[in-house]
Amino acid sequence: MLELALNHTWAPGSNRGLYNSGMLKTLLLLVSISLFAQDAPKPEQKKGPPQPPKNLKVLQPAEVRLVMRGYATALGGQCTLCHVQGDMASDENPHKEIARKMIVMTKEINAKFPDGKEHVTCFTCHRGAHTPATAPPPAEKKE
Ligand code: HEC
Ligand code: HEC
Repeated sequence: MLELALNHTWAPGSNRGLYNSGMLKTLLLLVSISLFAQDAPKPEQKKGPPQPPKNLKVLQPAEVRLVMRGYATALGGQCTLCHVQGDMASDENPHKEIARKMIVMTKEINAKFPDGKEHVTCFTCHRGAHTPATAPPPAEKKE
């Protein structure tokens, strides 16, 4: 595309040359913008590697990244269901302490299975809801 524009610009005695030289400048500008954009560091890279967790009471540091997205999905919420926005180490959101108790409870339940496998997860009870249902939904009415 750039080569095409060059050919037209320098075609002798062509009026379209003027128009195209404007277009060439625009093209060059676009190309340099995109090159610049590629060179610019991404915002996450600027912040450096993620900070190690500083307020863990039940999880291992290596577990955190793996389980958090799953918690949010299992309970049908965002990170802010349990966290204060922007400060994951804070315990200000009361749901976080409830979640700690739930993590311990879930580990205890799994420890009682004879095969030692993880059979029960947050999703087993929560199924995408903040509060798990204790009874099935009322039977659908038949028309
Ligand atoms: C159901 C509640 C819940 C949800 C939803 C949740 N978290 Fe957490 N998160 C916790 C609990 C509880 C801890 C503390 C675990 C402990 O004490 O060992 C924690 C700890 C963390 C930490 C470590 C903070 C520190 O410095 O100690 C990070 C980082 C984190 N969560 C990120 C996330 C992200 C990102 C999401 C969304 C994808 C998320 N969490 C969703 C409950 C939750
Ligand atoms: C054995 C079933 C069961 C499992 C497993 C379970 N929960 Fe729960 N959870 C419940 C019940 C029942 C409630 C509601 C209790 C209440 O209202 O007092 C609840 C409530 C919560 C709440 C409070 C929600 C609110 O809106 O107040 C959080 C947070 C939570 N669970 C997190 C978790 C996490 C994280 C896990 C997995 C580590 C988990 N739960 C595993 C049964 C379970």
